[in-house]
Amino acid sequence: MASLGMKQLGGGNRSVADVAGLRCRPGLTPPSRVGFRVLASGDRAEPDLSVTVNGLHMPNPFVIGSGPPGTNYTVMRRAFDEGWGAVIAKTVSLEAEKVINVTPRYARLRAGVNGSAKGQIIGWENIELISDRPLETMLKEFKQLKEEYPDRILIASIMEEYNKAAWEELIDRVEQSGVDAIEINFSCPHGMPERKMGAAVGQDCALLEEVCGWINAKATVPVWAKMTPNITDITQPARVALRTGCEGVSAINTIMSVMGINLDTLRPEPCVEGYSTPGGYSSKAVHPIALAKVMSIAKMMKSEYDDKDHTLSAIGGVETGGDAAEFILLGADTVQVCTGVMMHGYGLVKKLCAELKEFMKMHNFSTIEDFRGASLQYFTTHTDLVQRQQEAIRQRKAIRKGLQSDKDWTGDGFVKESESMVSN
Ligand SMILES: Cc1cc2nc3c(=O)[nH]c(=O)nc-3n(C[C@H](O)[C@H](O)[C@H](O)COP(=O)(O)O)c2cc1C
Repeated sequence: MASLGMKQLGGGNRSVADVAGLRCRPGLTPPSRVGFRVLASGDRAEPDLSVTVNGLHMPNPFVIGSGPPGTNYTVMRRAFDEGWGAVIAKTVSLEAEKVINVTPRYARLRAGVNGSAKGQIIGWENIELISDRPLETMLKEFKQLKEEYPDRILIASIMEEYNKAAWEELIDRVEQSGVDAIEINFSCPHGMPERKMGAAVGQDCALLEEVCGWINAKATVPVWAKMTPNITDITQPARVALRTGCEGVSAINTIMSVMGINLDTLRPEPCVEGYSTPGGYSSKAVHPIALAKVMSIAKMMKSEYDDKDHTLSAIGGVETGGDAAEFILLGADTVQVCTGVMMHGYGLVKKLCAELKEFMKMHNFSTIEDFRGASLQYFTTHTDLVQRQQEAIRQRKAIRKGLQSDKDWTGDGFVKESESMVSN
């Protein structure tokens, strides 16, 4: 016999399943008494994590975000073997010889007193550029991966200078390698903007519109535009990208940052020959900022593109299934992880899948679509919050007041009227 799991519902503690209008599935025991839903858990099917995004089928929504975890054949193969839903390779460009990295190029922020070395890593700055490997080498590896893993989703990340012919050549060559989709890096905040690339395009809507026009006229596979958070209103470039034909938006890339100043040497970190340059901030500390940006884009997409053809890939500080669930509750179709893999390894995907399934079981969700976007409706303006609170206070006062006089008792509202004057 199936074991019974009880879950208290009602009042201010209603579950997301409840507010999202989900019913008990057929075969489950109906509610036995008011305030409790009785769930049969023993015979419940495992939640289905698979998603289909712009026609691309993935076993789960977890995608390797562009960066070190997608730098070469060996690590991308490892990602597929461990079970990642898709892999986005490190950003490539036509002329890798122009890309010259420095070391050290990372600096970490730890929680705890005075950034104690034992503190948990919560922030990660990098001044790494895009891939410094020859394009031809990367393309060969993409081809080999697609031959060996034909059913898995491989996405190329690309970036070029402000030159239509260069973008067209890059798209053409990348597509010939057999990748399933392309993500455009309009968002790297350091190094590349000096060549009018990356965030330099993503921060300038007129430039973005022109470049997206070139890209979408050329590309024959789905295109995602990766947005920079280093802009006042992220919905503006996201809207431009979708309007000019991109199938999806990814957000966020890293946040412009200075990790710190060494108080002994007075030099900034990460320190290269005594000097530094602002870099990109990622990891747990950026998650709340990423949630806000993803929420804004999701609201814009819901009001202007409420369909399954335009998709949203959320990125920023994901290390748990709960972090991913938050993004999906805001409307994300997929969830990317970059720094989390650098800290915990490729096996992290197993923990992410297990934790996301746990969350789904807790709420009786069978598929990702059952809860995608369910929390978006609870974001409103501050003015609206004030009005809602004033109304709630007014109602609470009215209830507390009870009846002014015995003549106010009614037949229909008799029970409620009695309750309104009870003190416990
Ligand atoms: C070391 C490092 C290198 C990165 N390189 C790229 C890149 O080449 N292209 C890109 O689009 N994003 C790049 N990113 C950004 C990540 O893909 C991601 O958008 C960002 O780090 C936030 O997600 P996270 O907190 O999961 O890392 C890089 C991030 C890090 C930490």
